Formats: sequence, C-alpha cells, structure tokens
Amino acid sequence: MKGLILSGGKGTRLYPLTYTCAKQLVPIANKPVLFRVIEAIKEAGITDIGIVVGDTAAEIKEAVGDGSRWEVNITYIPQEAPLGLAHAVKIAQDFLGEERFVMFLGDNVIQGGISGLVKQFESNDYNCQIVLTRVAHPQQYGVAVLKNGAVVRLVEKPRDPPSNLALVGIYMFDHHVFEAVNNIRPSWRNELEITDAIQYLVDHGYKVYPYIHEGWWIDTGAPGDMLDANRLVLDELQPKVEGYVDRDSKLIGKVTIQKGAEIIGSVIRGPAIIGEETRIVNSYIGPFTSIYHHVVVEKSEIEHSIVLEHSRIIDIPQRIENSLIGRNVEIVRSPLLPKAYKMTLGDHSKVGLL
Ligand code: G1P
Repeated sequence: MKGLILSGGKGTRLYPLTYTCAKQLVPIANKPVLFRVIEAIKEAGITDIGIVVGDTAAEIKEAVGDGSRWEVNITYIPQEAPLGLAHAVKIAQDFLGEERFVMFLGDNVIQGGISGLVKQFESNDYNCQIVLTRVAHPQQYGVAVLKNGAVVRLVEKPRDPPSNLALVGIYMFDHHVFEAVNNIRPSWRNELEITDAIQYLVDHGYKVYPYIHEGWWIDTGAPGDMLDANRLVLDELQPKVEGYVDRDSKLIGKVTIQKGAEIIGSVIRGPAIIGEETRIVNSYIGPFTSIYHHVVVEKSEIEHSIVLEHSRIIDIPQRIENSLIGRNVEIVRSPLLPKAYKMTLGDHSKVGLL
C-alpha cells in the first residue's frame, strides 16, 4: 500500500500562528502534527508516501525533507489551490498508480495509530474503507449512515445529521476511487468533496465498509482543538529526563525534559514537556503544557498551554493558562513609564487581560 497525506490549506482558524507556520507543523507535545502522521503511516508498514502541498509547500518540504529520517520515501504533489480532498486524490493519480492507499489528513491526530485499520483493509477485498467515530456535534463533519454493516449514505456537514458517526480524516481506497473523483462535480463551497466520491462508489456497487474508531481523535483546526490534542498526547507520553534539573527543582508526575533543557529552582507538574535548550527558571509549569525548543520562562507560571520556539516569558505576576503562544513572542514586564500595557500584536491576536 501507499500513503497519501494532505498538507495544504491555509489554517485560517489558527491565525495568527498560521500566518508564519503551516498548521500541520504546529507541534503537539513538542512534535509537529505532520510528523506524527508520517510516523503513524510508517508504523503501519507503509514507506511510499505522497504529500499534497499548497501555499506552504516550501516550509513543509524544509521540515520533512525526503523522508529518510523516518526511513520512508516522500514524493511531493503540488495542488494549485485548495479545491477539495477528492481533487487531491485526482492530482495524486500518477503517484498512486494502481496501488491501494491510505489517505490521511495532515492535521488529524488519532489515538493508537492506524496499524489496526490498515491491516483490516489489507485483509479484505473492500474497494474503500472509511474510519468513523461517534461525535457530539456531527454537524461539523462528514456523516455516514450504515446498513447491515456497510456504508450506504454520506452527507457533508449536515444541518440535520442522520447519525452521530463522523468521518475521521483517514480513508482507504483502491484504484476505483479515480473513476469516482473524475465523475463528481464541485460542491457549493467549490470543492471536490471526498464524501461525494465515496457516495459515488456506494451508488455504483463498490464495497464501502466502515472501521469504527473507539479512542480519541482530534482534527486540530482551531486553537481549542490544539490544546485538547496536546492534553491527550501528553497524557500518553513516556516521561524521560534528558536535560538538567537542579536540586531546588521538582518534577511531579509525567514530565519530559528534552536535551539541553535546564530547569532551575522550578516546579513542573506533569503531564508536561520542556523542549531542547529551553530554560525554566524560578517558575511553575503546570499540567498539560508543552514548552517547545529554545524558550525562556523566568519567574512566571504557565499551565494548560503550548509555547513555540524562541519565545520569552519573564516576570509575569499572574498565571498564564489556556494559551497558544507562537514563535519569537515576548511576554515581559516593562518597567519604563508610562505605567501601561505595551503591545505589538499581529493580526488576529487575542489577549485576555485580568
Ligand atoms: C473534512 C471532510 C469531512 C471530515 C473532516 C475530518 O472536513 O470533508 O468529511 O469529517 O475533514 O477532519 P474539512 O476539514 O475539510 O472541513
């Protein structure tokens, strides 16, 4: 089998972070979501992987390279505009050829990986297998209707959902999907929808079966989803201390300290991860927090948050919570008069003051 990862899109719901960073490269528990996707595909035994890229192609290529780091072969497939998931399949036909493949949305994080479902697809003669999971708000997703164990109907973001089974962003196909993507028309949002392609397969007598996923799954489209995914992944991390922790510091629960990090006079209550070359001095890092590489936190408290590289948080009197802090951000006290908040914030920034 081959793998196809979709890594285009603008990530508008994650502005301002995604003005300067592809949404698939935002780290969850200090590892970009896209790297987690590549690792899940590799773990399922697939080493030939195509990545469909859009506006952020250069950045994705620089971060992922040729795949040798994971012992996989990466082929980049440029998509000229975000014209839909089925359009991505269409332009990947040369790469995919006649082989069966798993398509994985590059911003999805799933508990337990995909080895089980890939194995199930490999051992059956299905033309397509979709991954479904029960959700509280099916209106936000593609939704499936089952009959006698098979998929009979799919609706994209229905106002009145016919079931609570949402399509997870992981799909398996054989080459018949090209017939489908070449015969459907763009939807109201001017995209070739993968749900329409799968409905085509159902309507033309192809075998489409579900795989019901029971663990957690997060589509990391918005800041709240990022923090949720961060919380869930951190909780499953095996703690490891590779950096320096001084005698006055305390690590409580599942705490990972990466290479070159220094923890001085601080308390870190896990689950939490502190990145490479990061310094935490006289501070408190609370549960569900990921501090990425080359960050400085001094005389401050932070909890349930993600902080990206090269940021500095110094001498902040109130605890920072529920925050997504980008790269090269400075949050510091300013002793200079006038006594006032002084900010340089990018477009779409959000600040919650006490
Ligand atoms: C896409 C699919 C939808 C699926 C979702 C999962 O939605 O169209 O069927 O449930 O991914 O993440 P989009 O993210 O394009 O809104």
